[in-house]
Amino acid sequence: MNWREFWNGSHAIYVNERHQALHYDRIAKDIAALVPSPDACVLDYGCGQAESADLVARRCGMLYLYDAAPNVQERLRLRFGRDDRIVVLSTEALDAMSDHSLDMIVANSLIQYLTHAEFEALLALAHRKLKPTGQLVVADVIPADANAVDDVKALLGFAWQGGFLVAAGLGLVATFFSDYRKLREQIGLTRYAQQDIETLFSAHGFRASRAPTNIGHNQSRMMFVATPV
Ligand SMILES: C[S@@+](CC[C@H](N)C(=O)[O-])C[C@H]1O[C@@H](n2cnc3c(N)ncnc32)[C@H](O)[C@@H]1O
Repeated sequence: MNWREFWNGSHAIYVNERHQALHYDRIAKDIAALVPSPDACVLDYGCGQAESADLVARRCGMLYLYDAAPNVQERLRLRFGRDDRIVVLSTEALDAMSDHSLDMIVANSLIQYLTHAEFEALLALAHRKLKPTGQLVVADVIPADANAVDDVKALLGFAWQGGFLVAAGLGLVATFFSDYRKLREQIGLTRYAQQDIETLFSAHGFRASRAPTNIGHNQSRMMFVATPV
């Protein structure tokens, strides 16, 4: 199994329904706050279930959702197929989208599951699809010196505030025996030193800087805002 297959299958990455709902609510609110204007065309790349995407769609002109996993795409279509402010893209439709047509692309909690080459392909795609005034937001990036304790602390803090602390504790135990942990050990998660990722952005025609906060509950991870040079 690889990460793509993992995300395409059924998994228990959220400890319960409340965790999942609060996760997507927080992500959507944080993305909505980054939308540059009410008529902006925004792409959420690697969006997952994007359960609260309507909160983002309300703040922009058009919201495009793209996820590489066919099963995720299918669920997104079932959920948002009738919403005229949200377009769920297939891989072909994403490729066919007009160049320089997007105001913002956001990729949250994605690049740790990509190889360096896949991340570089995403940077090339983003450079092609963004308007010259557009911005690429890459968030929830795992720093090179991250440790698992920070992730656990962040989850437990989020769970405490969200009222699912017991489920989170049980979920951490379940994670220990899960496919997620096995894959994490076998394939690993891609981490970046700040300087290295800034060099990659620069090599692909972006000027990037680290934002003071991250999207989502884990503030030990990094967010970068990049603009085409
Ligand atoms: C951890 S989830 C993040 C979902 C969402 N962005 C969030 O913050 O909750 C990672 C998602 O990225 C998708 N993904 C993995 N590789 C991808 C790729 N190369 N292109 C687009 N999506 C990808 C997976 O299918 C999965 O749904």
